[in-house]
Order: sequence, then C-alpha cells, then structure tokens
Amino acid sequence: MSKKLIWMFFPAMLLSVLVVSQSTAFDPPPERDSFTVAIIGDRTGGDPEGLEYLRRAVYEINQLNPDFVIHMGDMVQGYTRDQDLWLREYEEFMSYMNELKVPWYPVAGNHDVFTPIWDTNDRTYEDLYKEHFGPIRYSFDYKNSHFVIIYTDDSMTSVPELSAEQMEWVRNDLENTSKSNIFIFLHKPVWRYGGDKWDEMHQIIKEFPVKAVIAGHFHTYQKDINKDGIQYYVMGPTGGEFHESNHELYGYFHHYNLMRVEDDKFSMAVMILGNVESDDYVLADDCIKMRNMVIVPPDKTGINGWLWQPSSSPAEREIEVFAYNALDVSIPVQVSLNPDRGPWSMEPPVLGFTLSPDSDITAKVVLSSPRLAPEDFIPPELEFEYRYKDAHGRVVPMYIRRRVFLRDTYEMHKSVEPVKVDGLKTEPIWQQASPLYNHTWTYSVYERPDEPPKTYLTSDDTNLYFFAEVMDDKYSYLKDNQSKGLLSDCIIFSTQPGGERKDIVIFPFNESGSAFLGNADARGIIRPANITMISGIGYSTITDQQSGYYYCEGKVPLSLLFGDEPIAGKEMLFNTGVIDNDQEAFIYVRSWAYDRDPKLWGILKFEDEVSDQ
Ligand SMILES: [Fe+2]
Repeated sequence: MSKKLIWMFFPAMLLSVLVVSQSTAFDPPPERDSFTVAIIGDRTGGDPEGLEYLRRAVYEINQLNPDFVIHMGDMVQGYTRDQDLWLREYEEFMSYMNELKVPWYPVAGNHDVFTPIWDTNDRTYEDLYKEHFGPIRYSFDYKNSHFVIIYTDDSMTSVPELSAEQMEWVRNDLENTSKSNIFIFLHKPVWRYGGDKWDEMHQIIKEFPVKAVIAGHFHTYQKDINKDGIQYYVMGPTGGEFHESNHELYGYFHHYNLMRVEDDKFSMAVMILGNVESDDYVLADDCIKMRNMVIVPPDKTGINGWLWQPSSSPAEREIEVFAYNALDVSIPVQVSLNPDRGPWSMEPPVLGFTLSPDSDITAKVVLSSPRLAPEDFIPPELEFEYRYKDAHGRVVPMYIRRRVFLRDTYEMHKSVEPVKVDGLKTEPIWQQASPLYNHTWTYSVYERPDEPPKTYLTSDDTNLYFFAEVMDDKYSYLKDNQSKGLLSDCIIFSTQPGGERKDIVIFPFNESGSAFLGNADARGIIRPANITMISGIGYSTITDQQSGYYYCEGKVPLSLLFGDEPIAGKEMLFNTGVIDNDQEAFIYVRSWAYDRDPKLWGILKFEDEVSDQ
C-alpha cells in the first residue's frame, strides 16, 4: 500500500497524434520581413569581473543570432594617463567582442574618450578612440531602417553637450535618408540632464520617422518617455558597476536588449543575463545516462533492513545500504539522511564511495532516533547523491531517495462497551485507544502534505473494529469498481494467516456496504480481477466536507483476518492502509507499514484471555 503512480501513457500518446493530424487545418503563419538588433550596455566601473558579464552577453547573443549588435559605449575603463593601459583595455575588450558572430557597432562613451588631465581641449583619447574604434559619430542603413550614432562627450565634462555642428550634422543626416524607421543611439541620455539642448534635438528629429532614442551611461535600465511617437530608453549595464542600492526593480541588472524591427514598427525585449543557452546545453547522451543512474529499482540501489518505530522507546538498528552504477564511467556517490525528516541520525553520518562502471557496493550503517510521539514522526529517508560529470565537464548532483521501513506494534485493547458501527466516535474505547498512523513509504514528488490518516483498532471475541479518520474532501466510489480496478477511495486490511496474504478491501463510499477479499500481487497492488465480494463485514461512513475529513467505522470478523485459531495473547502480522482516489490518473496510498513485504508489516498484540477478566 505504498504510494503508486499510475500514469496514463497510452491516452497521452493518442492525444498527441490527434494534435498533429489536426494542425494541418490551421492557416500557415503570415510571412514577416523583419530583423533583430542586440544592444549591449555599459561595462565600466566596478570589478574587473564585469567583463565576465560581457562574455556571457556575447555568448547569449550568439545563440540568438541577431542581424547585428550595437554597444552603448563605456567599453574601456579609461580615465588613465597611461595610453598603453588604455590600449590594453581596448585589446581586452575587443577579445570579448571579437567572439560575436555578427557585425557590431560602437557608441563612444565618456570612459572611452575622456581626458585624464581634465583639459577640455585635450582630444588625445578621443583621437585614440577614432584610431581604434572608428568614427565618433556615424550612421548606416539596414533594410528599411536608418541607424544614427551620435556623440555626447564633445564638451569633455560630466554634463553632456551637443554642439551646434552636431545638431546640423544630425539634421543633414536625417534629411538624406528615405528609410521608414530611424533609430538614434547615444551614450549619455542627454534629455535627462535638463537644459534645452535635447529639446532642440527633439524638435529636429520629430520631423523624421524616428522610432526610438536609446542611451546608456546610467547603469539602470529604464523605459523612458514616449514623446511625439518617439520612444526613449536608457540601457542598464552589461558588466558595469551597480550602486549599493542595487535592487533589480530599480533597474539594476546585467542585461542586453533585443530589438526587432518590422515594417514601420519595432519591439524591444529586455534580456536579463543568464537564461539563454546554446542548444547543446543538455545533451541526450548525458540525460539518458543520468536517468539510468537514478531510475533504478529499489533492489539495485536502496536499503536492506528496517527499524522499530521509535514511539515507545528510542530506535537503533544496523541496516544495509547498497548502490549500483549501471554506467560505463565511475561515479562518486554519497549517502546521507535527509535532515528534513525527523531527528534521525546515521553512523557514519555520511557514506562516501566511488562506484566503478557496472558495479555495486554494500555498506552497513546504524540508524537511530530518540523516542518520538507517533504523531511527530514520518519515515526517515536516505539520500543517495550521485555526482555525474557531463560532456561539458559540469558536475550534476542526482538524487535517489529511499525511505527506511519502520515497523510498529499496536496493543489491542478490548472494548468494554459494545461498538456500534455507526461512523460516530462515541464509544469510550475510541477515546482511550491510541491511533496508528498511515504514511507514504516511497518517495514521490507528488506526495501531499495532508495529515496522515489515523486508524484506531479494538476487538471483541469475534470482530476487529476499526475507526479511520481520514483527511479527504473528495469522496469517490465507482460502481463498476470490480471491472475497472480500485478506482475508489478505499481502506485495506492485510493479514497473512497460515502464510498466505489476504487483503480485505472496504470502500467507504459504497452505499451498499459491501466489502471485498483480494490478494495483492508481489508489488502490493490489488488487481480488480483478484477481488471477490464477501459478507460478514460491516461499516459506516460519515463525511464532514467542512472540516475536510471522513470517518469510517467498521467491523471485520477476526476469523476472516486471522483464521479460526484463537488469537488471545498472540502477536499477529498486520497492515492497514488508506487509498485516496480523486479520479485522477494516480492514486495516493498511505499505510501503517510498507505493504509489499509482509515481513515489514506491523504487529497487533492481542490481550490474554485472563487479562481482561
Ligand atoms: Fe558613461
């Protein structure tokens, strides 16, 4: 009765076939004529590691393969009186940009041209720029668009200037293009500095089909005003320094933009670094190997052994841990306890070994736990961490999680008053008896944090009585349950009289009150073909949709469970489980003990005849 996931692979395949065949009925997408420009921001200031962001941007842009790239300026740190240093910075910068697979165009930034002697007439570095990067302002055409790169450091001061001569140059340049889109790039966002210089420029450019003005320099990304149909932007950095108040929503992130131009429109996307990868990011060969490494049956990688539940005294026991490597390469493996699953400890705390190809290993560990209240524990879990080195040399941790089976003993106390099977918890015995808890014994990502179902047990001379408290607010019973499988909510009691497994199945929401007898297969699954209706069992269910619980009270003849031998004073192998079935593709199974192997079940301790006199 451990958790089982039954996936509907077949219908899923059928569905995909349908989708493919239907797609011919759709119209093909309209053809579009467009192009893409990647825009890289400032890289100066801050740590030299800034260049690593530039490297990353170049890598990502290469995957996206735009038509060309524009760098917003501040490409070298500059501000140095050592021209050789400027040149070394230039060479270093170029070594990153040369990796671009498409042409790129620079915008001159203050760091690239600034005079280190603070003489506004000193053009030494402006000349160096021209010699190495090229013209300080220029324009070019691409398809239906015209790109204008202007210069904002004419003044060689921190406040940008636009000379009258440059204004005139821009006007002339724009008058001489017939392209339907114009994009203007400049390093400093002149319009953000006050004064009327940019107003004057805006008056010029608004007479032309200018779609966007894009600046850098501020190191924070900002979509700015839209004025007369011209959209203004400030790019954030691609490696440039951050202010100490560097919240992402304050525009501080390393990025580049992707601008797509189509007809007389453009769209702009902010690409925050770190999420674009080449198509060989994960190779099928690696993926298959990693899958083969962790999708292994529990008899290949897992645990041999079990512990008593630490509910009446502390638990301690040596168990065997074994792992298998199905691959043709050696794999380091570490085994440790999942710390999120109770105060268990393992000695040694970590088991580490390297598994050679196609080999296995077995080791012994001692698990222990202090005494825990039954309601406080969940089955402990061992994590097998395999460290796989992929084709790119990256180490990928992969996990197999195996739960440790716990066995429990439950003291059966006879009820003094007769139990009335009505779904109500009114009998004093239900107040006195302690519940047993139903857990999930195999790891699954679909496990729910619901409260574990509780089952109370008592008996008289002929019957075992149960009272199950189950957190569940979707109640299901399928009438043709017998033919279609256990597709209903159910409660199961398992015993092994005379060495043969027996499973009694109760459907709390079957109004006819019938019950079934079945035999689980080796995997603990009760097949519909293997259950038959039996008489002698009675139960009654009360639902409380508001609290989200149902309560099922019932009786099962002891002879049906344990055979005809008297059981007073005996210890009987026993298990019980609750299956939640919400008519989804999988069912949720929790049980007192792991269900597959009767040797791992719990034990019911029946009172001696004399003791209840
Ligand atoms: Fe700048």
